[in-house]
Amino acid sequence: MDSIIVHGNGPLSGQIPVSGAKNTCLKLMAAALLSDEPLTLTNVPRLSDIRTLSTLLQSHGCEVALLQDERVMVLSAREITNRKADYEIVRKLRASFNVLGPLLAREGEAIVSLPGGCAIGARKVDLHMMALETLGADIVLEEGYVHATAPKGLTGAVIEFPFVSVGATENALTAATLARGTTVIKNAAREPDTVDLAKCLTEMGAKISGAGTSEITVEGVEKLHAATHRVIPDRIELGTFMIAPAIAGGEVELLGGRRDLLETFCEKLEEAGVEIEETNHSLKVSRKNGGAKAVDVSTAPFPGFPTDLQAQFMALMCTAEGTSVLEETIFENRFMHAPELIRMGAEIDVHGGTATVTGVEGLKGAPVMATDLRASVSLILAGLAAEGETVVSRVYHLDRGYERIEEKLSAVGARIERVQGDG
Ligand code: EPZ
Repeated sequence: MDSIIVHGNGPLSGQIPVSGAKNTCLKLMAAALLSDEPLTLTNVPRLSDIRTLSTLLQSHGCEVALLQDERVMVLSAREITNRKADYEIVRKLRASFNVLGPLLAREGEAIVSLPGGCAIGARKVDLHMMALETLGADIVLEEGYVHATAPKGLTGAVIEFPFVSVGATENALTAATLARGTTVIKNAAREPDTVDLAKCLTEMGAKISGAGTSEITVEGVEKLHAATHRVIPDRIELGTFMIAPAIAGGEVELLGGRRDLLETFCEKLEEAGVEIEETNHSLKVSRKNGGAKAVDVSTAPFPGFPTDLQAQFMALMCTAEGTSVLEETIFENRFMHAPELIRMGAEIDVHGGTATVTGVEGLKGAPVMATDLRASVSLILAGLAAEGETVVSRVYHLDRGYERIEEKLSAVGARIERVQGDG
């Protein structure tokens, strides 16, 4: 397996293009199963998670063609040839569970493997099932699979989530597009990913209102049709690269970056002393005067501080002046980066869902590894500010969600390289 080696190399300077959003693109791809006409996606990121979902969709009979240097994807599900999503793929990629709504709505039946546990928490799927049952599906669990049936189709209903779930909102939303009558989703996710999915479904002929608010209304239609849709910029990739100049100093322009995708995160960075300037096509991020200051954060569903940026923010707080308290409220086990950052000299105390970080003068390079995507990238960010060499192993986590990370960071002056074979 490959490793990534980072050397602290002083301030960064230059531009980084932001890719299309992984988590959005995955849900858009699953939505292609709703129609027998093609869905064309542009601004597709080149990531291993995207390839994994393509393989699953192909197993259902959906043709997947990549064009223009893999930036454009044409998904054509003329006929669903298989209603079963196999454990071998679903266990690798939880977002695969989002084929459940589209398959059930279109075919009246779906058999989808339960995804199983995950490094960051239990990540149950009870809300996905509750939502589909509310729309009239019969669901039984058989040998690790969810077997959902609705032979006469789904029927619109009021779905009220007890708390916000991005994936369950999206499964409910896709299923409701082909249900008979009106569905109202209450306490819906407001994430930009969900809004973009609703936009794409609308382009495919769905009747949706309220996306981006906590109540989404869907009028079911008979059929969806062909559409072409551009995937929004990846706000988590954007936020990750915004931390790079914040931690290493200098100024980096994130091409395609938009503040509205990350308002709360931007406010926290500014509180920490980072300057952010929005242009009509980018965000310019700089830290020029002294080090960052300690700032407390608590993760929350959109528009709150994203859990997917908590690890990266913690890396920044490790060298900030003062003590910060980071609270993780979405996942039960999302501080796996803390022990690795401690190996680099950080001072962090974790108690349950709260981490107290006392900034230190400087971090020191070390061999480190992490068991999820965002934890891994936080170690690369810490490496940018550390003295000496940081070797991050288990790089396959990074390849799931960051496109050519070493090239993008090298382009702004980071000393970073991929080494094949060990780690
Ligand atoms: C999405 O996961 C993202 N993944 C995650 O990104 C992100 O961290 C998360 O939303 C929160 O923003 C994709 O979009 C592919 P949830 P999802 O359902 O949909 C609990 C990354 O690094 N819950 O909003 O799975 C759940 O356990 C990742 O790119 C239930 O209890 O998240 C969690 O505690 C990781 N029952 C909370 O809700 C359910 O049926 C929020 O999860 C569903 C969820």
